Amino acid sequence: MKHRFARAALLAALFAAQAMAVLGTSVLCRVPSKARLRPNPLQASRAAAQAGAKLFARHCAGCHAASARGRYRGPVLNSAALSHASPGALFWIISNGIVRRGMPPWSRLPEPERWQIVTFLTSGSRPSPAPTPLR
Ligand code: HEC
Repeated sequence: MKHRFARAALLAALFAAQAMAVLGTSVLCRVPSKARLRPNPLQASRAAAQAGAKLFARHCAGCHAASARGRYRGPVLNSAALSHASPGALFWIISNGIVRRGMPPWSRLPEPERWQIVTFLTSGSRPSPAPTPLR
């Protein structure tokens, strides 16, 4: 009896460890390299950053906080991992979401609006150096 319990506990622990390994993988690791290297056509545009700020306030701030720095339901978007994300990677994450973990996909927003949000997120609203493409 004791033996069976120990085995069940071991199996449960193994299962939990595996689940954590899967969930713990950063979404950045799952961005396809082609998507990651896609350049932001609106990268240098100040107008795009401003439009992106409005879009962020409307669609994202409820979960990610108005400044993109706070912590509501979503993570802080200026986290170390994200500050190294390329514009293309951010675009991919926004387009596809991380559905299992509560980040909705935004593919229904027109592409230029998604790029505007990327411009906002990478335009000094985050106190990080300019994002460099991940290898
Ligand atoms: C319903 C709540 C919700 C909304 C609205 C939302 N997000 Fe998220 N977002 C999340 C959650 C929760 C996560 C964390 C998912 C995870 O744990 O991997 C996330 C993750 C992210 C990430 C990856 C962060 C990281 O550290 O890996 C980015 C980038 C992101 N969101 C951008 C946006 C943008 C841009 C918008 C608006 C277009 C938006 N989100 C709208 C809930 C939301």
